[in-house]
Amino acid sequence: MTSSSSNVVSKEQNSNNLLRTLAIIASTMWLILILWAIDVTKTNPFVKATLNKEGSLDRGAMLFRINCASCHGIAAQGLLGPSLKQVSFRLTDSQLIQQVIEGRTPPMPSFEIEPQTMADLLEYLHTIN
Ligand code: HEC
Repeated sequence: MTSSSSNVVSKEQNSNNLLRTLAIIASTMWLILILWAIDVTKTNPFVKATLNKEGSLDRGAMLFRINCASCHGIAAQGLLGPSLKQVSFRLTDSQLIQQVIEGRTPPMPSFEIEPQTMADLLEYLHTIN
């Protein structure tokens, strides 16, 4: 009797230990992710320059119609490219900028643009919801 109840206790302790270990792993991974995100923003001069600029929504909307609407739709609803509805809720500014300038996901091209142009586009991307 005593031995089986102490078994229960040690099982609970085991699962507590497991939970604690998982929590430590999860928070370590978050920390690495956050540090990485901060680092990317700091070390990428284009991202930094863009984030220091004030974007214009009007220019951003025009740039979007000219460069992006053919694939993402005039209302960003998605065509060949995916819908960009609420995209700034899903992606950080740094990720949005890299998506536009790096051409990591063909067929989306990489855009060679000035930080000011990117800041305008970013301003528009923030308003798509
Ligand atoms: C030739 C077509 C094309 C053009 C032009 C284009 N895109 Fe894309 N875009 C895509 C495709 C395809 C994807 C999906 C890539 C993937 O993840 O496989 C994408 C993905 C994206 C994403 C990521 C969406 C998400 O949910 O992860 C963003 C943001 C984006 N595009 C913004 C833009 C902006 C801003 C422009 C204009 C400056 C632009 N795109 C121009 C085709 C295009």
